[in-house]
Amino acid sequence: MNDKESTQKNLSEAQEQGRYIRRIRSFVKREGRLTKGQASALERSWPTMGLKHEDGLLDLGKVFGREADTIVEIGFGMGHSLVAMAAAAPEKNFIGIEVHRPGVGACLMEAEEQGVTNLRVFEHDAVEVLQDCIADEALAGVQVFFPDPWHKKRHHKRRLIQPEFVEQLRRKLRIGGVLHLATDWENYAEHMLEVMQNASKWQNLSATNDYIPRPDERPLTKFEKRGARLGHGVWDLKFSRVE
Ligand SMILES: C[S@@+](CC[C@H](N)C(=O)[O-])C[C@H]1O[C@@H](n2cnc3c(N)ncnc32)[C@H](O)[C@@H]1O
Repeated sequence: MNDKESTQKNLSEAQEQGRYIRRIRSFVKREGRLTKGQASALERSWPTMGLKHEDGLLDLGKVFGREADTIVEIGFGMGHSLVAMAAAAPEKNFIGIEVHRPGVGACLMEAEEQGVTNLRVFEHDAVEVLQDCIADEALAGVQVFFPDPWHKKRHHKRRLIQPEFVEQLRRKLRIGGVLHLATDWENYAEHMLEVMQNASKWQNLSATNDYIPRPDERPLTKFEKRGARLGHGVWDLKFSRVE
C-alpha cells in the first residue's frame, strides 16, 4: 500500500468509527517559548489541574470532587478571563481548552496566584477534546471569547464558529445550557450571528434578536479597554440550547 492509500484507509476507518476528522484547523501551532514562571507553574500545577486528551471521557464528579455546573472555555489565550471568572464563581467548575502551551502555563500561574481550585485545563485542540472527553449534555455553559478572526476571506473556513462545530457544542450542553461568544471583529460577529441563526434548537438570548451588551460575568480585557478608547466595537452573543 502506498502512502496515499494508507492515509485514505486510516481516514475511512476513522470515519466508520464515527470519528470526526478535521482537515482544516482553527489554529496554527506556534511553538513559543515558555517563560520561567510559566514553566514552573506547569511543573507545579499540571499534576492537579492538567487534563489529558488521551485519558478519554471525563467523569466530572471525580475530576472536581463534587457535582457542580461546569463551564468550558475554548481558546482561553493567557487565561485572564478564565481565571477571573473561576475566582468570581467558586460554586462552578471551569475547564479551559487551549493549544498554545505558554498560554496554558500563564493560566496556571495566574490560577496559583489567585488561589483558584475550581479550574482544570487541557492543552489540546478543543474539537477533539469535546468529541472524546466531554459527555453529551454534561455542560452548563461554553464560552469562546475573541476567537482568531481569520480576517482574509480565503481563511474564513478556518474560523472556529461554523455550523458543524456549534452543533457539536449544542450536544455537549444540557438543555438550557448557554453558549457565550464574543468578538471584536465585526465581520466575524456577523458570521457568528448567521451561523447561530441558521442552526436549529437554539434560542437567542438577545432582546433585539442579535447581540447582547457585555454581561458582567465576562471581564473586560486590557485589549478591549484600549479598543473601547479607540472607538472599536465588541459584540457578545448568547444562545441557549432548547432541545
Ligand atoms: C485570538 S486568541 C484569544 C485568546 C483569549 N480568548 C482572549 O480573549 O485573549 C484565540 C486563541 O484560541 C486558541 N485556539 C484556536 N483554535 C483552538 C482550538 N481548536 N482549540 C483550542 N484552542 C484554540 C489559540 O491558540 C488562541 O490562543
